[in-house]
Amino acid sequence: MNKSLFNLDDWTKEDVNQCLNEALAFKKAEKIVNYHQEKVVANLFFEPSTRTHYSFDVAAHKLGCKTLNFNEKVSSTKKGESLYDTIKTFEALGVDAMVVRHPENEYYKTWENKIKTPILNGGDGSGNHPTQSLLDLLTIKEHFGHFEGLKVMIVGDLKYSRVAKTNMKIMQKLGMEVFGASIDELYVNGIKKANFKTDLPHMDVVMLLRYQFERFAEQENYHLDYLKNYKLTKALVETMKPNAIIMHPAPFNRGIEIDDEVVECSQSKIFDQMSNGVFVRMALINRAISDQGKQN
Ligand code: CP
Repeated sequence: MNKSLFNLDDWTKEDVNQCLNEALAFKKAEKIVNYHQEKVVANLFFEPSTRTHYSFDVAAHKLGCKTLNFNEKVSSTKKGESLYDTIKTFEALGVDAMVVRHPENEYYKTWENKIKTPILNGGDGSGNHPTQSLLDLLTIKEHFGHFEGLKVMIVGDLKYSRVAKTNMKIMQKLGMEVFGASIDELYVNGIKKANFKTDLPHMDVVMLLRYQFERFAEQENYHLDYLKNYKLTKALVETMKPNAIIMHPAPFNRGIEIDDEVVECSQSKIFDQMSNGVFVRMALINRAISDQGKQN
């Protein structure tokens, strides 16, 4: 059985609910933790990360695993070693699972079947961020108790956001109505267009995104002028349904896509998302390294 997680394309509703229930059991400490003392998880991050990297690290430690935190800057990638050979090396070293983040979209596409050790995708370029989506779903499920019929608006830099792309697919599969609000240049196909300000009062979830300037082509920096119209301000929050929630995968740019005072307002779930990341990643590591964790 393949225990790697590269994207959520093949995940069913049942797969999602099973993962979230496992995560909730870890959160409520119903599940025994600290029982994987012999296991080693390697974190290989080829792009900056705070939440994904360290919540995987915390999750692995809570399960009793040891972790290796790969430092690209002092690794043999500097001598030209490829990503595949780096991954193959960690497999040869005998680690039980790897978490990989890499700037290339679908970095795993050409060799995923050649690696037997489970790999958990911590984000590939502007492609997929499956573990972020699962922690977002856990946060939504905890608040509303269900997914079916919820209206979600994903706002801003849809084009470069792996979070938006992963979420829009899995959320629609779960019966949520997903809208995108952005300037035309940063819009993506596959979701309904919404008007950020006039449709906001009808939404259950508003999900903001960081503008990924590092992925913008140089000539795209002018977008910031237009994106000023997509900032969630306190005045706009007051137009939202009282039970609606504000989400952001973070890191966020206070004052750009979200007002400083909105970040920690009562409807914001931003820091809950981060906490839930640990429990979702515990469930995913557990799934990867439990008996028959190695693919066969
Ligand atoms: N949300 C997220 O992926 O954050 P990091 O880039 O800090 O891991």
